[in-house]
Amino acid sequence: MPPHKPNTSSPAPGPKPWEHAKPTGSGSAQDELATRFVESLSYDRRLYTHDITGSIAHARMLRKVGLISVKDLAAIEKGLASIRKEIDKQGDAWPGWKIELEDVHMCIEAALIEKVGDAGRKLHTGRSRNDQVALDLKLWVADAVNELDKVFAQVFRGFVLLAQRDGAIVMPSYTHLQRAQPIVVGGEIMAWLAALERCQRRLHALRLLNSDNPLGSGAIAGSCLPLDRKATADQLDALVGPTFNAIDATASRDAALDMAYALAVTAMTLSRWAEQWIIYASTEFSFITLDGRYTTGSSMMPQKRNPDMLELTRGRTGTAYGSLVALLTMCKGITVGYNRDLQEDKRHLFAAYDSVRDSLEMCARIASTTKFNEKTITASLGRGFLDATALAEYLVVRGVPFRTAHQIVGSLVRLCEERNLHELSQLKLEDFNHACAQAKHPRACQSDVYDWLGAANVVKRYRSAGNAGVSGFEIQLKQWDKRLS
Ligand code: ARG
Repeated sequence: MPPHKPNTSSPAPGPKPWEHAKPTGSGSAQDELATRFVESLSYDRRLYTHDITGSIAHARMLRKVGLISVKDLAAIEKGLASIRKEIDKQGDAWPGWKIELEDVHMCIEAALIEKVGDAGRKLHTGRSRNDQVALDLKLWVADAVNELDKVFAQVFRGFVLLAQRDGAIVMPSYTHLQRAQPIVVGGEIMAWLAALERCQRRLHALRLLNSDNPLGSGAIAGSCLPLDRKATADQLDALVGPTFNAIDATASRDAALDMAYALAVTAMTLSRWAEQWIIYASTEFSFITLDGRYTTGSSMMPQKRNPDMLELTRGRTGTAYGSLVALLTMCKGITVGYNRDLQEDKRHLFAAYDSVRDSLEMCARIASTTKFNEKTITASLGRGFLDATALAEYLVVRGVPFRTAHQIVGSLVRLCEERNLHELSQLKLEDFNHACAQAKHPRACQSDVYDWLGAANVVKRYRSAGNAGVSGFEIQLKQWDKRLS
């Protein structure tokens, strides 16, 4: 059976209200596939509040410049308010949703005309769906960024909670996924917080870039009517002033692109975090234990606790990237004015938003409930010569040039490996000074060298701003505390 069987039972529909130039019976509503092909109602109805807000601003402006009467305005406002209430209540079941009207804009206008008659027929004065949808999109983007702010707050709280609980545990850091330098768990958590906070600021920044109002641009060229575009913009909290150029305003989807990019970077950041924790949750690492709510079992292997929520967070990154690439591709063929291709923007943007929003919320839950396993982490801290760099820095403090210090420590690591020792602190002071003497820095080491060795000592020694050891973590956590309180 074909997935979309034409509905042959209902009578042939009449012409769309805006297709009167066509001979009777020849409109795009006559073909079931064309009707389905051209509609955006299935995904743009979520713009209804933005559409109504924009329409009210437009109507008030029309009144201000004398294009409609006080009575007309009152009827339009009352009609739109009741439509908003109806849709709030009935959602997808609202009877005004009619696929043959193509989109949210035409459905709401048709319902308004049905309610208030001629006043409703005046609403579209000086307006096209082209500037209307461009406005709706910008209003939606502004709202979506606000919505994401709430979810980001949960994410930040989740990580801060974890940092407060497990942040002091000493752990190895990794570059190339090879043991690097010792840090504290909180230092790494602060890294995710820094990256995610930047994601939030990226979203805020795009709001600034896309805060001019396209309404009043009409279909492409503007209008012969005395529209006061500034007055329209003044009524819209999210926007300041009219767009500079009518053609650009109707044919640009920069707001969607900027949002999709910001969402893609957010998804990428979440995916990196998910990947890291999937590795940490493996039996081989066992650095973390995920809460039972956020793992699943296997239908065959009874012992399994799979980190599916993290894997899906990583996997869904493709949705966000795909949306960005789809939008960029969609826009690259758009000639100076509106082209119907642009209708697809919402399909992609909403998919990316829904996916990233969910992933952020999941991240908040996982962050606040995960436990770092101090015992396991501590048990292997002696492996991987995590303190080698600190030892080189000790030698720098003792007057050895860094490159020479690097060589000395390299030779000491080799010495350990030759003697089957795993830790630099297992060497004797003579061993250290022998290596130093060979590099023409005799007696560079004193017995205090041991205070610079061992992961637990090193994490207390970091002093550069933003460090991932004890001091850096404490400062950063304080700042987060302050920010969240
Ligand atoms: N639903 C359409 C969109 O999202 C509205 C614009 C239609 N404009 C037109 N000139 N046919 O882009």
